[in-house]
Amino acid sequence: MIPFNRQTLYGPELDCIREAYERGRTCGDGEFGRRCEAFIERRLGCRKALLTPSGTAALEMAAVLAGVGPGDEVVVPSYTFVSTANAFVLRGARPVFCDVRPDTLCMDESLVDALVGPRTRAVVPVHYAGVACGMDSILDVAARRGLVVIEDAAQAFDARWRGRALGTIGAIGCLSFHETKNVSMGEGGAILLNDESLVERAEIVREKGTDRSRFFRGQVDKYRWVDVGSSWLPSEISAAVLWVQLERADAIRERRLALVAAYREAFADLEADGTVRLPVTPFQADPNGHMMYLLLRTEAERDRLIAHLGSRGITAVFHYVPLHESAFCRERWGAMSLPVTESVSRRLVRLPLFHGLTDPEQREVAGAVRGFFGRS
Ligand SMILES: Cc1ncc(COP(=O)(O)O)c(C=O)c1O
Repeated sequence: MIPFNRQTLYGPELDCIREAYERGRTCGDGEFGRRCEAFIERRLGCRKALLTPSGTAALEMAAVLAGVGPGDEVVVPSYTFVSTANAFVLRGARPVFCDVRPDTLCMDESLVDALVGPRTRAVVPVHYAGVACGMDSILDVAARRGLVVIEDAAQAFDARWRGRALGTIGAIGCLSFHETKNVSMGEGGAILLNDESLVERAEIVREKGTDRSRFFRGQVDKYRWVDVGSSWLPSEISAAVLWVQLERADAIRERRLALVAAYREAFADLEADGTVRLPVTPFQADPNGHMMYLLLRTEAERDRLIAHLGSRGITAVFHYVPLHESAFCRERWGAMSLPVTESVSRRLVRLPLFHGLTDPEQREVAGAVRGFFGRS
């Protein structure tokens, strides 16, 4: 059996958790949390990183920090995880869906300007599969139209665009450390603040709307309710697990990139004759080996491939169901058509890819895909 994703227990996790207990602190903002945040700030180059209990929580914090409120609009892709939109809908905003590029499956930057109206507050590029969006155009539209750029870099930890880490380009970046991501704490994430003026408020919003972080640093004698906020601080237990993975970030990245390269090599002839389409990386992007997907010619062929792999004990999956096609969206904001999103979402399949995938397992998956197309 080859699962879609398998967790690696690297070894020191339980000792690190024990260390947190011995230090007498398992709630958030302890030694491991601070170590993780400092590591992320150094490695990615952001002004401030704050761990969160999920990528979703980071997006929800971003919506608060960007001042999104009832009646506002936010430009997001429909081809994304539900939280990219829901974080803003929670604040009473309306998602304005942008189609994706057929090559990267990221927001089509050439369409953004036309979607901006008087109520638009933010644009949320999703760096799908850890591949950069067309940031030049997005930054340009945002500057001209006065929008906050919030990067959904949930899949993009340690990926770059012209040497800049994804998530550090807009005012705010959101990472996910869910178990399916390159580095993980089970459930978790981080908000990256690239604009100094957001840092103090972000600490408050994450600490239930109080100045507790300042209290812990001895800057105030009591902590008080000073703003809106929620419980968006993860525990030291999760941070201890993340720390073990961050320390191995180079090895994890290297292995994932090697597995992607091996898949690409195995499917080169299928790509050359147009049987499948493999991920592409324009815009001088430097991806992080997050995902291996294939785009097939039809939905029926995609479904048959998933069943073929399943019958051989290999779990392959598809995603996303376009947000604009959900009943939730149609009932609230009416039907709409996004042709590229609709086409790619029906033809995409994701193959097993995780740090612990062995070479024989990877060859077995590649062989089973090739077998499906009648290739040896
Ligand atoms: C593009 C994107 N945004 C947001 C999220 C939400 O992250 P989390 O599952 O950590 O809440 C995900 C998770 O898969 C994602 O892929």
